[in-house]
Amino acid sequence: SIPAVGSRLLHSVYQFFPRSLSPSLPGPLSLPLLGNMLELAHDHLPSHLTSLARRYGNIYRLKCGNTTMVVLNSGDIIREALVKKWSDFAGRPHSYTGDVVSGGGRSISLGDYSEEWRAHRRLAHNALQRCSQKSLHWVIQKQALHLRQVLLDYNGRAADLSEDFTVAASNIITTLAFGKEYEKSSAELQRLHGCLNEIVSLWGSPWISALDCFPLLRKLPNPPFSRLLKEVARRDDIIRTHLDEYKMQAPSKTSEEDIAITSALLNGLGKPQDTTQGVVLTDTHVHMATVDLLIGGTETTAAWLSWTVAFLLHRPEVQYRVYDELCSVLDGRYPQYSDRHRLPVLCAVISEVLRLRPVAPLAVPHRAIRDSSIAGYFIPKNTVIIPNLFGAHHDPAVWTDPYSFKPERFLEGGGASTRALLPFGGGARLCLGEAVAKMELFLFTAYLLRDFQFVPAESQTSLPDLIGVASVVLKAKAYSVIALPRPGP
Ligand code: HEM
Repeated sequence: SIPAVGSRLLHSVYQFFPRSLSPSLPGPLSLPLLGNMLELAHDHLPSHLTSLARRYGNIYRLKCGNTTMVVLNSGDIIREALVKKWSDFAGRPHSYTGDVVSGGGRSISLGDYSEEWRAHRRLAHNALQRCSQKSLHWVIQKQALHLRQVLLDYNGRAADLSEDFTVAASNIITTLAFGKEYEKSSAELQRLHGCLNEIVSLWGSPWISALDCFPLLRKLPNPPFSRLLKEVARRDDIIRTHLDEYKMQAPSKTSEEDIAITSALLNGLGKPQDTTQGVVLTDTHVHMATVDLLIGGTETTAAWLSWTVAFLLHRPEVQYRVYDELCSVLDGRYPQYSDRHRLPVLCAVISEVLRLRPVAPLAVPHRAIRDSSIAGYFIPKNTVIIPNLFGAHHDPAVWTDPYSFKPERFLEGGGASTRALLPFGGGARLCLGEAVAKMELFLFTAYLLRDFQFVPAESQTSLPDLIGVASVVLKAKAYSVIALPRPGP
């Protein structure tokens, strides 16, 4: 195509001319020493980066210490980098604090692109796929029914459901990972979540990210950083205990009973395909893959569920339309994932919430592993790339009335296409749990809206805030809601 030829031409031009001749990236004024640190310390970073795009365009640069970051704000530009030129941008930045939380860069999510990383991701992907085929549908249905009971037990009282959503999402991952599920009150679950939550929120805090850009700060006392180190040690202890327990019990299970990812991961170790070019995967890879699945798969799904209920409280007629569709299509029974093609209104709600509140709004930073270009700009090796998924999902050139919750835009004649969505990123770093997440979002929402009508806690004046709190995960602020049981079929 013409744009592809154009970009290849530009790339070859850059090979021969001095870099200074390539157009320089726009961006806000960078202060001596601080660079654009103040822009990055904004409390709702995705929406701030989106407002900068209105001023500087859909691709601009920010400086942080010696690091140059390039922020991508439109679907086309993000796809160019992550999908079309995936092999140029599949890296992750090396960072001091990233190394602390990822066992020295040995996790799938934060590990840099290498043969070892590819083998690690393949091992986890195959294990997840094998277990999903065997059991994902019933594992999710079981948790959806359990969540139904939890909501019934509130007896029409107003409650903040965010923790119930976290327990449901987490039980899916712990069942898949080690064949274990927990009650909300379980001390073991509280310990696990307490520490994973702390790690994610501390790691996203400016006190800690400053250590990556300004090495001198590492010499000063930093209580949040000391807490991070403690929580990471606690996390590793908990996971190690689970894996050891699992290994002790596993021989007593037949391979038919054994649906846990852990056994698929352990079985995958030492297989010839994982030892290409001398890569040997070990127990550490199993450990870090488990951490990746727990961190990647819990807060994301739970945050999405909280957003869905929050938006539906603002538009009760949409909630009714989904209920009506579920009743008429399913004739009283609970849905299967294969019913999704017959439930367009429900699917439109799911897409619209993913559009407005992509729960990983800035994905995870990428790194250019060689010199390349994006949108005609030269991008040198080691540049950090921030895919602003939130910005792409609010791009007025693609979405009409981008800030409004309008699921009908995805229905026939509504003018929007789910192909323009990028909530799971793309290319080599596409979310590893995309298929799991899609089935969870569908089944949880369908079960909840079939059995309950969600109404505001007191009156219309207590409708939840829709801005939220942005860190690595974009979460709704705490709110209470009443879940009124629908009459039985
Ligand atoms: C990475 C979104 C659920 C596991 C990511 C990324 C995004 C994302 C945007 C970063 C992609 C990039 O770097 O370009 C979401 C959303 C979810 C969700 C919106 C739910 C609504 C899950 C679940 C799991 C999971 C359920 C696990 C079962 C991971 C892992 C990575 C990842 C391991 C790192 C992949 C890599 O670096 O290669 N996710 N995710 N996610 N996600 Fe998800």
